[in-house]
Amino acid sequence: MVQELTKGVYWVGVVDWGLRHFHGHELSTPRGSSYNAYLIMDERITLVDTVWGPFQDQLLDNIRQIVDPSRIDVIVANHAEPDHSGSLPAMLRAAPNAKVVVSKAGADSVPGHYHQKWNLTVVKTGDRINIGHSDLLFIEAPMLHWPDSMFCYLTGKNVLMPNDAFGQHYATSSRFNDQVDQQELFWEALKYYANILAPFSHQVTRKIEEFVALNLPVDIIAPSHGVIWRSNPLQIVTRYKEWAAQVPERSAVIIYDTMWQATRRMADAIADGLADRGVPYKIFYTALADRNEVIAEAFRARAIVVGSPTHNRGVLPSMMPFLEELKGLQLKNKIGAAFGSYGWSGESVKELEELLGRCKVQVAARGVKVKWQPGPEALETCRKLGLELADKIKAD
Ligand code: FEO
Repeated sequence: MVQELTKGVYWVGVVDWGLRHFHGHELSTPRGSSYNAYLIMDERITLVDTVWGPFQDQLLDNIRQIVDPSRIDVIVANHAEPDHSGSLPAMLRAAPNAKVVVSKAGADSVPGHYHQKWNLTVVKTGDRINIGHSDLLFIEAPMLHWPDSMFCYLTGKNVLMPNDAFGQHYATSSRFNDQVDQQELFWEALKYYANILAPFSHQVTRKIEEFVALNLPVDIIAPSHGVIWRSNPLQIVTRYKEWAAQVPERSAVIIYDTMWQATRRMADAIADGLADRGVPYKIFYTALADRNEVIAEAFRARAIVVGSPTHNRGVLPSMMPFLEELKGLQLKNKIGAAFGSYGWSGESVKELEELLGRCKVQVAARGVKVKWQPGPEALETCRKLGLELADKIKAD
């Protein structure tokens, strides 16, 4: 069902309730997602972004509720990733005279995906296209999320369409931020930021500063995923400024795998030390945990404590996807430590410390390795590791 955001501006996107993985199987989406596209009914009819290809017929049906798609004059392709550009071929079959507006990098990525001779118009920051009563104003936003990404702002209506920025993978029956569960909304927004945009935090900060300096009124922020921010829309910009600064909470995450519970018992003892100092923590068992939720919690925390028994002279394999993800995200302002049990060779703690270093996590306390199952003395050593980390977390 289409939804009018403000007079003459319609959401014509698709809610994908069934989506459970995104970017292939890289990102978990337990609450589904949406692919938001916006139709602007002005003298020149404009579509901003499309939807993922499997939903192209639904997009066209939605547009038909408002106008014959052949009458569309302008299609803005803010970003070529297929969740937004996947219906471009169908749209251009339906609206063959439409011109496609892309950023300079989009002039590479859009043809690179579709290999069609479309009528591309390349825009840069500050360029405007008049569509009648309003202008489309473009702001390039490289790396939010790809080099081609850009924002489109609709003058007069004060609607910012920033594509991936400020989005959430969150399927809902309502389209607006004031109509949904706030805890769910902000958790999904945080998880999205931590897993997708965190490596580009510097660009996020700069882009927000650049946008604020333009002094444009903003009544609605309409991202390409999840709900639309119409109630206090700048609240999500404020959150992004905080998240981009990467100032952690005074908390810890303990992330471990275990075979016969020895390393789990060590994790619990470290947690006891944190608790003794009043430092909040969360514990994740990597063999069963949702990696992307672990990343979101690690993003918030000051300390990342990792544990694994020694297995084939290394660490248990379930730790590696998390650590590989962490290495790519290059989170800032993290301290950490390692722990684990062993039977004979005992390499896991040293290897975990090396892996933390590659993730730019500062190893802030000596790791603990325990032969076989931990006895009372070893558990007390683990508790002391928790105390030491807690003191460092609180000292910041
Ligand atoms: Fe939602 Fe980068 O695509």
